[in-house]
Amino acid sequence: MAVATKSSTEIRSILAGLQAEAQAILGKYDQKRAALLPLLHLAQERIGHVSLEVEEWAAGLVETTPAHVHEVVTFYTLYHQHPIGKHHIQVCSNMSCVLRGADEIIRHLEDRLEIKVGQTTKDGMFTLSSVECLCACEIAPMLQVNDRYVGPLTKESVDRLIDECRSNQQRA
Ligand code: FES
Repeated sequence: MAVATKSSTEIRSILAGLQAEAQAILGKYDQKRAALLPLLHLAQERIGHVSLEVEEWAAGLVETTPAHVHEVVTFYTLYHQHPIGKHHIQVCSNMSCVLRGADEIIRHLEDRLEIKVGQTTKDGMFTLSSVECLCACEIAPMLQVNDRYVGPLTKESVDRLIDECRSNQQRA
């Protein structure tokens, strides 16, 4: 099973259903553009990634251009331009984490998941990324899996994390 990809029509239909929530977000800000990040977050949460349709939708809501929205989306690593796995594993590869073994952790994850950084497992379960400092250097080497920070990592704790994600998936 590959990562599920929604069609353009499906995405537009989901976005149409988000109008009330989008207006509520817009209502919290004096300037519409200030609502851009939370609007993108809302759309990504429901759709799984920020597609071109989402960029156009958000641009219309905050009265800017899709090109400006695209710049924002590509600047922040928390926005995904393509569908990702159910568990997005982002390993910090900045100095503190590298000095404490992040490279070895990434290699271990690549071996264990049988993918390279930037790829998604065939079952659509895991996407592996390497990211800049996640501001949790005190638990280096560390990673973020979806909204959760995990560290300091060892090969064993990484194995346990993968097993945990898989068993949670089976229960879901
Ligand atoms: S260097 Fe890895 S969290 Fe800061």
